[in-house]
Amino acid sequence: MDRERLVQQLTAVVGDAHVLTDPAVRASYETDFTGRYTGRARCVVRPADTAEVAAVLRLCHGSGVPVLPQGGNTGLVGGSVPGPDGGEVVLSLRRLTGIGPLDPDARRITVGAGLPLAALQRHLRPLGWEFGVDLAARDSATLGGMIATNAGGERVVKYGTTRANVAGVEAVLADGGVLDRLAGLPKDNTGYDLTGLLVGSEGTLAVVTRARLRLVPHLPHRVTALLALDSLASAIAVLGRLRLLESLELAEFFTADGLALVLERSGLPAPFRSAHPVHLLVECAGRRDPSGELAELLEEADVREVAVALQDADRRRLAAYRERHTESINAAGIPLKLDVTVPLAALPGFVADLPALLAGRGSPYVFGHLAEGNVHVNLLGVAPADEEAVTEAVLDRVAAAGGSISAEHGIGRAKAPYLHLTRSAADIAVMRSIKAALDPTGLLSPHTLLPTDA
Ligand code: MLT
Ligand code: ZN
Repeated sequence: MDRERLVQQLTAVVGDAHVLTDPAVRASYETDFTGRYTGRARCVVRPADTAEVAAVLRLCHGSGVPVLPQGGNTGLVGGSVPGPDGGEVVLSLRRLTGIGPLDPDARRITVGAGLPLAALQRHLRPLGWEFGVDLAARDSATLGGMIATNAGGERVVKYGTTRANVAGVEAVLADGGVLDRLAGLPKDNTGYDLTGLLVGSEGTLAVVTRARLRLVPHLPHRVTALLALDSLASAIAVLGRLRLLESLELAEFFTADGLALVLERSGLPAPFRSAHPVHLLVECAGRRDPSGELAELLEEADVREVAVALQDADRRRLAAYRERHTESINAAGIPLKLDVTVPLAALPGFVADLPALLAGRGSPYVFGHLAEGNVHVNLLGVAPADEEAVTEAVLDRVAAAGGSISAEHGIGRAKAPYLHLTRSAADIAVMRSIKAALDPTGLLSPHTLLPTDA
């Protein structure tokens, strides 16, 4: 079908204002927020509800046009931007921001895929509830995008990843059919877990339009501590002790280089008088003040210096040293981002090996979610000609350590060529069969995870 005719038909579904064809208006949908991944859309369509999403997909399916679902466009592996050929319709879910009634007895709420995480948090907290997943990109990341990527973030140590916090979804299939698994019953053994399958499928199997979320009680008493440590090994040892605490919600690490860059770019004052090799940011929360039990466990820990905060504003100030890594690195250049996980025991060795693996090709900033061994290897200054070799060297080392080449950002288009490093041929064959069953003509997110052209 010619482009003009499809645009007219899409306009009839979503209205003139919500089919974006002007390149200047489309631009923010075509480049990711790091500036690394960019592409060209046939047009951007912004439906208002599930019926409109289904109608858009029916039209695209009928005309054999590929579709790229997009949430907040804060993904970090190029899965949220179209390919270079201008073939895809970008399907922005950002207008699906509905919030259903809270069901406190079942501890559930139903929300639209386009709702930003921070908006959900603002809605839930005064009602005494929380969504267990939290991350630094909370203002722009949408629930649908978090579901598509099975986002992890900062509180996995207590609440698990997005998959553990989503009870059910509604999703539109490639041909426009609607899959309704929104009931999200706590017990339901009636065959394949389609919700679990769609979480983390990166928009390749269906377009999530609504989600039934599991909620956890908002714990009013919180303490945040920033610990300065000798080494990553000692951070792991301290974390081992702190994990005795049921109140532990967060354990994030960063190194001296990352902190120096954050201070330089943000203008924040240094947290300690002297520099330290490694920092561990921890947070405990409870119905009663958890600061006593945290202090008790820290008394015998091998810690160089500690800063503790109880008030929200002070806690946020400490958290900023970790949360502002991404924006500070972005401000310094376009990073090569390698989000990986390695078994905790192998983590210090992996980080120590990085300089040798890089052999001078770029400056590494390592930080991340310690309890899961989830390291964000962010590299600045890698020459374009070296990017592939550097990526391969780091990901090979991750595979050799028994880790995963993607901990929480997904595969997107960035890591599709490396999927075989930590998924077997049998795994990938099963994934391809699932893709073929749900999207036989390969129209959804064609450059992501299992590229149809690979
Ligand atoms: C974070 O945890 O801040 C992000 O997932 C990491 C990144 O920007 O690489
Ligand atoms: Zn992260």
